[in-house]
Amino acid sequence: MHTCIVALLLPILQLSQVGADELLFVQALWRHGDRSPTRTFPNDQYQVGQWPQGWGQLSAVGMQQHFSLGTRIRARYNNISPSFINATYRPSEIYVRSTDVNRTLMSALSNLAGFYQNGVMGVTFPDSNSVPTWPSHWSPIPVHTVDSNTDHIGNTDSYCPRIDQIYRAMEQSAIFKNITQQNQPLFDYLTNATGMHISLASGISSLHDTLFIEQTNNLTMPSWLNDSIWNQIVNLTQISDDFYFGIYPPANTEMIRLTGGSLLKSVVYQMQLKYNCTLNVMDMSPACQIQRARKYYVYSAHDTTLAGLLTTFNDEHQVLGMLLPKYAASILVELWNTTSGPQVQILYHPAFEMPYYPITNLTSGCPSTSDYCSLDTFVKRSVPYMPVDINAECQAQ
Ligand SMILES: *[C@@H]1O[C@H](CO)[C@@H](O)[C@H](O)[C@H]1NC(C)=O
Ligand SMILES: *[C@@H]1O[C@H](CO)[C@@H](O)[C@H](O)[C@H]1NC(C)=O
Ligand SMILES: *[C@@H]1O[C@H](CO)[C@@H](O)[C@H](O)[C@H]1NC(C)=O
Ligand SMILES: *[C@@H]1O[C@H](CO)[C@@H](O)[C@H](O)[C@H]1NC(C)=O
Ligand SMILES: *[C@@H]1O[C@H](CO)[C@@H](O)[C@H](O)[C@H]1NC(C)=O
Ligand SMILES: *[C@@H]1O[C@H](CO)[C@@H](O)[C@H](O)[C@H]1NC(C)=O
Ligand SMILES: *[C@@H]1O[C@H](CO)[C@@H](O)[C@H](O)[C@H]1NC(C)=O
Ligand SMILES: *[C@@H]1O[C@H](CO)[C@@H](O)[C@H](O)[C@H]1NC(C)=O
Ligand SMILES: *[C@@H]1O[C@H](CO)[C@@H](O)[C@H](O)[C@H]1NC(C)=O
Ligand SMILES: *[C@@H]1O[C@H](CO)[C@@H](O)[C@H](O)[C@H]1NC(C)=O
Repeated sequence: MHTCIVALLLPILQLSQVGADELLFVQALWRHGDRSPTRTFPNDQYQVGQWPQGWGQLSAVGMQQHFSLGTRIRARYNNISPSFINATYRPSEIYVRSTDVNRTLMSALSNLAGFYQNGVMGVTFPDSNSVPTWPSHWSPIPVHTVDSNTDHIGNTDSYCPRIDQIYRAMEQSAIFKNITQQNQPLFDYLTNATGMHISLASGISSLHDTLFIEQTNNLTMPSWLNDSIWNQIVNLTQISDDFYFGIYPPANTEMIRLTGGSLLKSVVYQMQLKYNCTLNVMDMSPACQIQRARKYYVYSAHDTTLAGLLTTFNDEHQVLGMLLPKYAASILVELWNTTSGPQVQILYHPAFEMPYYPITNLTSGCPSTSDYCSLDTFVKRSVPYMPVDINAECQAQ
C-alpha cells in the first residue's frame, strides 16, 4: 500500500523535487561503443588488415556513441537537479572504473568528454594562452582500472575455475547434448566453411559476433551464409550465452552469482554506504567522508557484464529480448531518499540514441507495479546472488 503511493507520487516529485524526496546517488554501467571484431575464422576474406586499429578496438563511431551517451546522462541529471553533479568536474563527486581493456577505457573517456562539456578554463583545462591548441573545452577526467584476472566486478572472464567447472558439467547434461546433436549437421557445415571448430560450447558466439560486425560495416557476406543459416547461428548463440550465464532452464543460481554477483554486491555496497554515511553525519571514517561527497559511480564494461547483472535481477530476456546488450547499452541504478525511506530505481538504455526507461519492476522480489523498490527489499532479494567471498567461491570443488 505504502509503496503504491510512492509509485504514484515519484514521477511528479522527480521533476519538481517537492518535499524531502531527493536523489542521493547514481551508479551507471555501460557497454563500450562500436568496435572491430575481436578475432575471425581462418577462411574469412576479412582479416586484421580490414580494421584500421586492429582487433577489438573502439571505432570512431563507438566514440561518438559514448560522447552522445555522456550528454544524455548529463541531461537526465541536470533535469532532476542542476546541482546534483556539478557541470564542472569535481573530483569528490565522481568515480569511474573501467575494465582493463582498450575499448572500455576509451569508451569511458569518450563518455566523460560528453558528460563534462562545460569545463572551466584555467581550472579543469589550461587556458588558451598557455595551450592554444588544447581540444575545445575538453577536461581530462580520471578513469581507474584493475587487473583483468582479478576484476570479478567488470570482467565475467576473470579467473574463476568454478565457472569453468560448472560449464563443463553443463556440457555433459542431457539437454546440452541433445541441442548439440540436433544441430550437428549445422556445426559440421560451419566448421568446414570457416576452417575453425564450431560447436555449442565453443566458437558459435564468436562467429556470430564477427559476422554481425562485418554486416554492420556493410562488408560482403561469404557465399555459404544465407538467411536461414544466419538465423540458426543467432538462435544457437542465444542458447550458448544462456548456458554461460546460468539461465538456460533450469536456472543455475551459483553460475548467476559467480558471473554477475560481484557487480551486484558492489552496487548494493555503494548504495548502503551512501545511505549510512548520509544518515550518520558524525561518522568521520575515511570511507564515509568519501562516500558522503560522492554522487556518481561508473562501471565501463562489456555486453557480458550487463547481461551478468541483469541475470541477477531476473530472466535477462525480459529486458534484452534476443542476444546480449548492444553497443553503448547502459543500466542506471539510482538511490532516492523519500518520505518512506530509501528507494532504488533501475533504468535501461538499450542502444545508441534510445532513451532510458525504468526496469525496476522486472526485478524479482521488487513490486511489479512500481518503478521504485525500497533499498531494504532490494538488498534482501539480492542476498542469494551476492558472493560472500568470491575468491573462495571461485575455487573448483
Ligand atoms: C558548481 O561548482 C561551482 C564551483 O566549483 C559553483 O560555483 C557552482 O555554484 C556549482 N554549480 C551548481 C549548479 O551547484
Ligand atoms: C591496447 O592498447 C595497447 C597500447 O595502448 C596495445 O599495446 C595493446 O595491444 C592493446 N590491447 C589490445 C587487447 O588490443
Ligand atoms: C531432444 O529434444 C527433442 C526436441 O525438444 C525431444 O523431442 C527429444 O525427446 C529430446 N531427446 C532427448 C534424448 O532428450
Ligand atoms: C567444405 O568447404 C569447402 C570450401 O571451403 C567446400 O568446397 C566444400 O563443399 C565443403 N564441404 C562440405 C561437406 O560442406
Ligand atoms: C552501411 O550501409 C547503410 C545503408 O546504406 C548506411 O546507412 C551505413 O552508414 C553504412 N555503414 C557503414 C559503416 O558504412
Ligand atoms: C541455405 O544454405 C544451406 C546450406 O548450403 C542450404 O541447405 C539451404 O537450402 C539454403 N537456404 C536458403 C533459404 O537458401
Ligand atoms: C529460432 O528460435 C525461435 C524460438 O525458439 C524459433 O521459433 C525459430 O524457428 C528458430 N529459428 C531457427 C532458424 O532455428
Ligand atoms: C549500512 O547499514 C546497514 C544497517 O545498519 C548495515 O546492515 C549495512 O551493513 C551497512 N552497510 C554499509 C556498507 O555501511
Ligand atoms: C531522508 O529523508 C528524511 C525525511 O523524509 C530525513 O529525515 C532523512 O534524514 C533523510 N535521509 C538521508 C540519508 O538523507
Ligand atoms: C513496469 O514498469 C514499466 C515502466 O514503468 C511499465 O511500462 C509496466 O507497465 C510496468 N509493469 C507492471 C506489471 O506494472
